[in-house]
Amino acid sequence: MQKKTIKDIDVDGKRVFVRVDFNVPVKNGVVTDDTRIRAALPTVCDLAGRGAKIILASHLGRPIKEKKKAEEAGNAFDPAKFSLAPVFAAFKEFAMKNAEIGEVSFAADCIGEEVRKAAAALKSGDVLLLENLRLHAEEEKNDAEFARQLASLADIYVNDAFGTAHRAHASTEGITHFVDTCVAGLLMEKELEYLGRVLEDPERPFVAILGGAKVSDKIPVIDSLIERKVDKLLIGGAMAYTFFKANGYTVGKSLVENDMLDRAKEIEERAKSAGVELILPTDHQVVDSADPLNSQRTIPIDFTNAGHVGLDIGIETAAIFSNALSGARTIVWNGPMGMFEEKPFDQGTIAVAQAVADATDNGATSIVGGGDSVAAIKQAGLESHISHISTGGGATLEFLAGDALPGVEALDSQPES
Ligand code: 3PG
Repeated sequence: MQKKTIKDIDVDGKRVFVRVDFNVPVKNGVVTDDTRIRAALPTVCDLAGRGAKIILASHLGRPIKEKKKAEEAGNAFDPAKFSLAPVFAAFKEFAMKNAEIGEVSFAADCIGEEVRKAAAALKSGDVLLLENLRLHAEEEKNDAEFARQLASLADIYVNDAFGTAHRAHASTEGITHFVDTCVAGLLMEKELEYLGRVLEDPERPFVAILGGAKVSDKIPVIDSLIERKVDKLLIGGAMAYTFFKANGYTVGKSLVENDMLDRAKEIEERAKSAGVELILPTDHQVVDSADPLNSQRTIPIDFTNAGHVGLDIGIETAAIFSNALSGARTIVWNGPMGMFEEKPFDQGTIAVAQAVADATDNGATSIVGGGDSVAAIKQAGLESHISHISTGGGATLEFLAGDALPGVEALDSQPES
């Protein structure tokens, strides 16, 4: 990694603005998945232990877009739903268990006089969490004056929000124009190291598994993986049906992107000429669209009729995918194999989760990203059998597609050696 990190700088007595990604699910005022909060702790503890005065900032959801939608529909908009207060409560629990961290407090805004006073009053080791950055429209517009106001709170800028690094917003890009020292946090460093290795020098065999609804979402990643000559590319989830239809199979009422049929053919041809083995399902779990609740069964792909809806890979496919993963040395997985949120259509995704974990136990480096794939790993209790669970969704895909991430590009570079 060529970017400077917090390990390269002295932070003692300095006010450090740390952009974190605390965009976590919140239900009835309670955080339901604290993975991203836990993932930020190494950076916070390290800085606190070295005497920094820490200002944490994050977004939560997309309040400006939600407000617009509510106004257009004539509904009331409740900004309180986008408050980071529940996140602060969860963070405080962790902070209390870490001796390096001093007093923790929550600011009702992210800019303004009150925030400035609270930041100025911080002592070494203290942490101040600011209110949701995106309650100000200027954040997503990367407004220079807003970025300057955020920057005025601190001496040093740290970006530890890998999940938001693909956004050029005021707190991820704009702010770096107003702070002299801008470095990566430990989570950012770890994400870039794992994902960077996949792009630059993967140990082989290198196997990628892609799933989810849309081919169109994954095209840049598929292109990049083929270009890097991944050894095997396993495609499951609804996106497989676009490939089947492109090859003349009946797909019934399964999800298909008709405008991607040519692209799917082209991907298959490119994979072939690059020597990449592209493996599609051979069987799947379907329901009859006329009687979805009582008609679930597993059939070969070429037995599909006009009324079938495919909702998961079948047992044979799960075995083929598991076999393909078994000898892998590098694995990247993004996207579920079926309608993971509905039982029994979670079976294919869980089987893949198990196969990735087994391969990891046998020495593979595995990287899992994307909400449903990560949820499957957690649901199966396999977190400790995965080398790296990425905190990024869109950011992971953009990075693997070979795109530069603005939040990373904006950080100070290591001197050339
Ligand atoms: C994410 O959850 O993927 C990140 O926090 C980025 O959120 P965004 O897609 O709303 O920018």
